[in-house]
Amino acid sequence: MDVQQPRFSEQEIARITARIDRPVVLVGMMGVGKSSVGKRLATILHWPFVDADDEIERSARMTIPEIFESYGESYFRDGERRVISRLLAEDATPTVIATGGGAFCNPATRELILERSLAVWLDSDVDTLVERTARKDNRPLLRDGDPREILGRLREERAPAYSQAPIHVISANGPHTQTVNRVLEGIAQWL
Ligand code: S3P
Repeated sequence: MDVQQPRFSEQEIARITARIDRPVVLVGMMGVGKSSVGKRLATILHWPFVDADDEIERSARMTIPEIFESYGESYFRDGERRVISRLLAEDATPTVIATGGGAFCNPATRELILERSLAVWLDSDVDTLVERTARKDNRPLLRDGDPREILGRLREERAPAYSQAPIHVISANGPHTQTVNRVLEGIAQWL
């Protein structure tokens, strides 16, 4: 089967969306493809897509590297929690939300996500993360050292947090459509 083809018919998608009453939140390491997969998933579900990192930058009127540089990581985490809390407000309509890699590792933010949404952990091997993060120089945590070492260490440190998401999907180093289909399969099984 051509992995580029959507595996789910419109009818199957309608059956899935009729049963989800909450946002779907993608969590996982930097470079795993949360935004790319999230955008495609939202299109298939006919839901809006929101990138939490973009929302943080909009609220702060600063880029993420500028926030880290001016105020430090804990200030960023606090802003991240507030933005995600707003996106997951009680009356939030179904949306696909991509979060920054550290969001789900902050206990307060994780609790919010687990309580108010369906969390999906996208997971890749370190080689894939290294390759994908090398395409952009916008991640402050990768600037001070060897990205492979940092990504490997963070992936290990964060796995216990990520594994609390009810759905776990491997995002292989192939087309994102394949990962989107796996996410849909994970959601359909979870329902
Ligand atoms: C971070 C990941 C980034 C961004 C910030 C911190 C992290 O988002 O939130 O640079 O701690 O892993 P992406 O996962 O979208 O790169």
